[in-house]
Amino acid sequence: MQGVRYTLSPLTYDYDALQPVISKEIMKLHHDKHHQAYVNGANAALELLEKGRTGVVIVNLKSVMRDLSFNLNGHLLHEIFWKNMRKYQDKNEMPEKLAELLIKNFGSVDAFKKEFVEAGKAVEASGWVMLVKDSEGNLMVTQVQNHNLLGVTGFKPVLVNDVWEHAYYLDYTNDRGAYLEKWWNVVNWDDVMERINT
Ligand SMILES: [Fe+2]
Repeated sequence: MQGVRYTLSPLTYDYDALQPVISKEIMKLHHDKHHQAYVNGANAALELLEKGRTGVVIVNLKSVMRDLSFNLNGHLLHEIFWKNMRKYQDKNEMPEKLAELLIKNFGSVDAFKKEFVEAGKAVEASGWVMLVKDSEGNLMVTQVQNHNLLGVTGFKPVLVNDVWEHAYYLDYTNDRGAYLEKWWNVVNWDDVMERINT
């Protein structure tokens, strides 16, 4: 019996839609190669677990669980990341209701953005910066190291930015802060609002 397998969703916009914030070259590599590798890694771990159950192979569970956590979280975070973005807009407005929520939770929209950028810059090596929602609707900024460390269980990511070097190095070299600052022009605020509401 074959259990669950995951697939890479196609982008809902063109590879060059996020320019000049994120180049077509990065988008092609990031989505088609890096993200696909996480999907493949997650599926390989799931397949190995199934073979272990039927005794076809002896599985090192500690190692497979580590692979599954890393790759599956990598896949799920990228799925949110692509949908959290939309075509570049010079003046990228957010819904009024979202601005109100950010003011309620962070004092001002600028304070939220500053905290998000600073937390993104402070991620050690590779990881993510996220706006998350708890079960009561409170919003906070958190970090994830790699794809699966430092997360808070049960908190729903509503806005995530990938701060692995593969996300920005071709365009920004080592200036992660510039990438984080410019990224606001491609954030799909309507998608963020929808994730908060559901
Ligand atoms: Fe990535």
